[in-house]
Amino acid sequence: MCGIIGITNKKCNVVDKLIIGLQRLEYRGYDSVGIAVINGDSINFKKGAGDLDTVMKRLSFTDLSGSTGIAHTRWATHGGVNDINAHPHMDCTGDIAVVHNGVIRNFASLKLELESKGHKIKSETDTELFAHLLEDEEKKSATFIEALAKALARIDGTYSFAILYKKDPDKIYFAKMRSPLIIGVGENIKAIASDLPALLDMTKTVILLEDGEFGYISPTNFEIYKLLPGGGYKKLNLEQITLKVKTVELTPEAASKGGYQHFMIKEIYEQPNAIRETFEGNIEDPALSKAAEIISSSNRIFLTAAGTSYHASLVFSKILAKRAKLFSYPIISSEMSYVSSTFQKDDLLIAVSQSGETYDTLQAIRDAKKNGVKVIAITNVLGSAIVRESDFSLYTRAGPEIGVAATKTFLSQIMLLEMLSAFISHERKELDKNERNKILDYLRYAPNLIQSSLEASDTLIPALLNLHKKNSSYILGRGLGVAIAMEGALKIKEITYLHAESYPAGESKHGPIALVEKDFPVYIVSTSDAPEIAGNAIEMAARNAKVIVVKPADLKLELKEDRKSIYFADMPPSNSIIELEPFILTPLFQLLSYRLAVERGYNPDKPRNLAKTVTVE
Ligand code: M6R
Repeated sequence: MCGIIGITNKKCNVVDKLIIGLQRLEYRGYDSVGIAVINGDSINFKKGAGDLDTVMKRLSFTDLSGSTGIAHTRWATHGGVNDINAHPHMDCTGDIAVVHNGVIRNFASLKLELESKGHKIKSETDTELFAHLLEDEEKKSATFIEALAKALARIDGTYSFAILYKKDPDKIYFAKMRSPLIIGVGENIKAIASDLPALLDMTKTVILLEDGEFGYISPTNFEIYKLLPGGGYKKLNLEQITLKVKTVELTPEAASKGGYQHFMIKEIYEQPNAIRETFEGNIEDPALSKAAEIISSSNRIFLTAAGTSYHASLVFSKILAKRAKLFSYPIISSEMSYVSSTFQKDDLLIAVSQSGETYDTLQAIRDAKKNGVKVIAITNVLGSAIVRESDFSLYTRAGPEIGVAATKTFLSQIMLLEMLSAFISHERKELDKNERNKILDYLRYAPNLIQSSLEASDTLIPALLNLHKKNSSYILGRGLGVAIAMEGALKIKEITYLHAESYPAGESKHGPIALVEKDFPVYIVSTSDAPEIAGNAIEMAARNAKVIVVKPADLKLELKEDRKSIYFADMPPSNSIIELEPFILTPLFQLLSYRLAVERGYNPDKPRNLAKTVTVE
């Protein structure tokens, strides 16, 4: 959470580029923003509470000018959302400006120490302490790199820092520990940022920094150092650096709205292409059959993830049970530590995370590794923390997702996991080669089905919007439908701020049905593995609920005389191929929540209190 960026070049003012970078990083948090630049012999900065658009209207960032600058967009951890807590933070002299993504754990003791030495701490943030710590160390060090190394040795926590130091006016210092940081290497321009989209306008040549690395960039040069245990450090040599340099294939368009009003709607409509990329990018990759081998030879299979990625894991679990006859244990990653003591030798953990950064999922991986359990990561982000800490990785290749609510990455995770399931089923001899290939051929057709489902949803949604005059709704499913219902309810909650609750439909009569009264909206997600959900639809209709059955058009349900009071949201046919049903049934809920949010006057790209990547406990 929080996005940082720093840019240095020879002559041009970097402020416009920093603003574009902030727009691309806003998905990481939008509680406040700030920019600092070095101009001549001073560091000038502006910062304030609110998202980028709001703050830009209030403070004219474009009045700032300088060829070296840093910027920050915040998701508040230490200290409330206000102008003072916004980054950048300065030391007492005004010579050092710091932006930070992460959390400094020994914040309280550092604060006491620094205040006792006379430092004037203005904000409630942990970040400001680091600026003052650097100020102290700088006085005792021969170089700023040495001061930085000493200051880093004094802090415990997670960080990516970008730092301006007035006496080195064309350099930006940086450091990374468990928060992402990437260097962009252009010819006469260098940049650092939390994520690739912020760099794409400047260069496609990047270095994914590793934990414990720090250094500086200047317009024509950069140096990377490594912290050593015990507080020392060493400079990386040319060969070590050359090995790290990568070229990325993404274009700046991938990180723009491309004419759409919001990233979320762009990403919803982008799904057919994104899911095609997932399929084409993985189908020939030997990693898929290798992963299937590892999974098939493991003892128990645990799946762990948070939010939308957890819902994708639930789909995987259901498909694995049906096709591969393999039981798996899906566990929300923040709950993993309560059961990790039961890990046994030869168990396997499959960690699913779009960002590859989610703290809870990373912790679950660490717990597993501590217990000698192998980990396979499924992520969308190359070289992310989760990838680095896992034994084996597969990539969804859906391209950058900027909207905070996950959409295209959900279906791309499902695509990859279903491909994997087909390989596992073959590996376990539940499917012969032809049967496996037949499933893969069906999956190849999924992008077309998503397209048709989006078109069908667009037609149905105007009528559905009216049902949400009630503040609450149920989304019920059985079998595979539970995971789709859970994702639908999450989408509605997080961007429309209306309450939507998902439940296994069979469980609804054990309590939740008590809430149902006339016109209460109840969605029934009907999948081919659970025709008995018809009974639950009838129970709800009998209590005068507004029942909307969301199903593949060709799926027949035994609804008898209650048919008339039930509304059917018929999606494209699935031919009872269960693997295709998430692609057919999910888009309705994505589009519905998007349209509802817009109708209610909310910005779906920036749901309140959320950030795209949750890197705190
Ligand atoms: O990056 P991850 O997939 O690990 O993120 C997991 C959740 O934080 C994420 O899915 C979250 O629930 C989103 N708000 C869903 O739209």
